[in-house]
Formats: sequence, structure tokens, C-alpha cells
Amino acid sequence: MNEIVSVVGARPQFIKAAMVSPALAKAGIQERLIHTGQHYDDDMSSVFFDELDIPAPDTNLEVGSGSHAIQTGEIMVRLEAYLLQNDRPDCVLVYGDTNSTIAAAVTARKLLIPVAHVEAGLRSFNMQMPEEINRIVTDRLSDFLFCPTQTACDQLKKEGLTAGVFLTGDVMRDAVVHYSSSSTPANSQFPDGSYALATVHRAENTDDPDRLAGIIRGLGSVGLPVIFPAHPRTAGRLKGIGLPDNVRIIRPLSYKQMLRAMKGAHRVFTDSGGMQKEALWLGTPCITFRDETEWVETLERSWNVLVGADPLRIKQAMELEPVDPPPLLGQFGKDTASSRIASILVSA
Ligand code: UD1
Repeated sequence: MNEIVSVVGARPQFIKAAMVSPALAKAGIQERLIHTGQHYDDDMSSVFFDELDIPAPDTNLEVGSGSHAIQTGEIMVRLEAYLLQNDRPDCVLVYGDTNSTIAAAVTARKLLIPVAHVEAGLRSFNMQMPEEINRIVTDRLSDFLFCPTQTACDQLKKEGLTAGVFLTGDVMRDAVVHYSSSSTPANSQFPDGSYALATVHRAENTDDPDRLAGIIRGLGSVGLPVIFPAHPRTAGRLKGIGLPDNVRIIRPLSYKQMLRAMKGAHRVFTDSGGMQKEALWLGTPCITFRDETEWVETLERSWNVLVGADPLRIKQAMELEPVDPPPLLGQFGKDTASSRIASILVSA
């Protein structure tokens, strides 16, 4: 194939596209990038395009925020119109597990355009998570299933999906390897190892006052300053909640700033999928505000510890020392995941 439409909409998808788009171009594939507009604030969107040199999207569908049905439905309506009014691509490429992912997969598939899914086969087995629904539906509809791990490939097989499944490795790892050497100054106020870094953005944590309070109480007990770059929704929920003295809320960080902050942290606390792996690749143990993870490999040798939203488990996890080496290091040889994906698509 030689013409692809890629659909992105949320922060981690911009980072993945920053790796995959140049690989597609290098392989001779023409790409049109569509931004759904799911994330739209400057520090949730344009900062990534600027910092990672991602070309401006061909079009921005500008759907903005809304309920799941509204957001997903609006993306479908606007993307369908785009695909019908413009040259038909050979494939629509989607990333991860957001509402932009499922909306693009359903729309393309119903227009009989093949779908390629980067980060196929991940499962939390928690159907309360909107992302789990998005993953299952997207995988079921995809013609190319690009798995970051062997666990993901095995899972697809269990679900009866065997055609078009490829173990490619993780494009997020490509990004960490590529960008972690470019210099972003350390935070001089907090030398390396002297602080913890925390992020929370999942609805199950932000929109449940008991869970959010448990997390904040736990962070208050870790015995270190906690730098907390807050997603806009989390910042909204934290307004009016008394914060412990050691917790400092700041604006969302750019990708390179976040890599630097994770590398220097004594521990990373998060409910993000991507940061659980990024922390480990940067050599920092992770503590995860969830009860399960799609990235089960990260749990090996205590490099990642699941603590839910329980203040006691958060405090106890601080005392665990992981055993070297971190999991998920360099597992798929020297080619990048992005270049593998591009070479599979160009020869399809
Ligand atoms: C979305 C994805 C999640 C992913 C995350 C990455 C879904 C269901 N969730 O979660 O899987 O891990 O992106 O960051 O697709 N908001 C703003 N400005 C913005 C964007 C959002 O203020 O630029 C606020 C709005 O109040 C919005 C809320 O954040 O309602 C949630 O945004 P949304 O895109 O729906 O979900 P995320 O939590 O960002």
C-alpha cells in the first residue's frame, strides 16, 4: 500500500505518531494525518506537535470534549465526511485505546477501508474502563494488528484473532530511546532522586471523590516532595481540596520535560498506561494507581507495583526496592517498532 490516513486525538497518540510518521515516509508511504480534536488545549496538543516536529495535521475535526457517545459519535460523523470527500486511502491507521481510536476504526471499517491498529492485543480485563471497550472493538475490526508484546499477541490468539497479527515491539519505546538523550534541563529546585513525580487522569480516579482523596492522602505520606503535573480534568477536581504540604500541582509538562522529570524522580506515581513503561525504560520504579494493568511485564521484580487508591498500599510501595534489571528492556532486537510497522504496511 502507498497511501495511509492516520488518526490521532490524544496526547500519547501524538508521541506515537512522531515515531511512526517518519518511518512511513522513509518507507515511501504517503500519509495524511487527521487530528480529531479530542485534546485541544495548547499544553495537551500543540506543544507536542511543536516539540516533536510533527507536521501540522491535514485536517483537525475539532470535536472537543463531551460524553463518550457524543465524542465518539462526532468523530465518526466528521471523519466519515472527510473520508468520503477526499481521496480514498489504502488503510486507516489508529493508535492505542481512546475514543478517537474506536471511532476511526468503526468509521473506516464501515467504509470498507482496511484498519491498522498500533498497540493491539492489550487487555486490562476490566470492562469498567472505557479504554478496554475501545481496545476490544478496535482489535476485532482491524486487518493489521501490531502488538507491542508477546503477551498481546497471545491474547489475540485466545480471542481467535490470528490473521494480520504482528509482534512489532513498542513504538513508545522507540520514542523514549529517540528523545531521552535530547536535553531538557533538570528541575534545579529538586535534584535528581529527591522528589517523586505523580500524574492522575483516569476517570475512575478523578471522578470518584473517595479514590481521589485516597491517592492524595497516600501522596502526603511518601516523605518526599511530590511534583504533580495535572491533566485539566484532574486540576478541576482538585480545586477546593486541601493538599498536603509536600504535593505541588503544576501545569501539564511537554513530552521531553516529562521524560526528564521521570528520569530524575525517586518514584513515578501514575495511572497512565504509557508512563508505567516509560518510567522503567528510564530506570525509575513505578507505583500505579490502578488495580490491574495491561502492561503485566512491568510488574516483574517489583519495578511496577499496583496500589489502587489505597493510602496504606501507596506508603508501603515506597518501601519496596525493585531488583535489577528492569523488565521490558530491549526485547525485540535492534530494529525499531515503527520501522517494522512501516515495512509491513508498505509490502501489504
Ligand atoms: C483520554 C483517553 C485515555 C488516555 C488519555 C491520554 C478516552 C476514553 N480516554 O483520556 O485513554 O489515556 O486521553 O491523555 O479516550 N480536557 C481539557 N482540555 C483538553 C482535553 C481534555 O480541558 O485539551 C478535559 C475536559 O474536561 C474533558 C476531560 O479533560 O472532558 C477528559 O478528556 P478526554 O479526552 O475525554 O479524556 P482523557 O481523560 O484525556
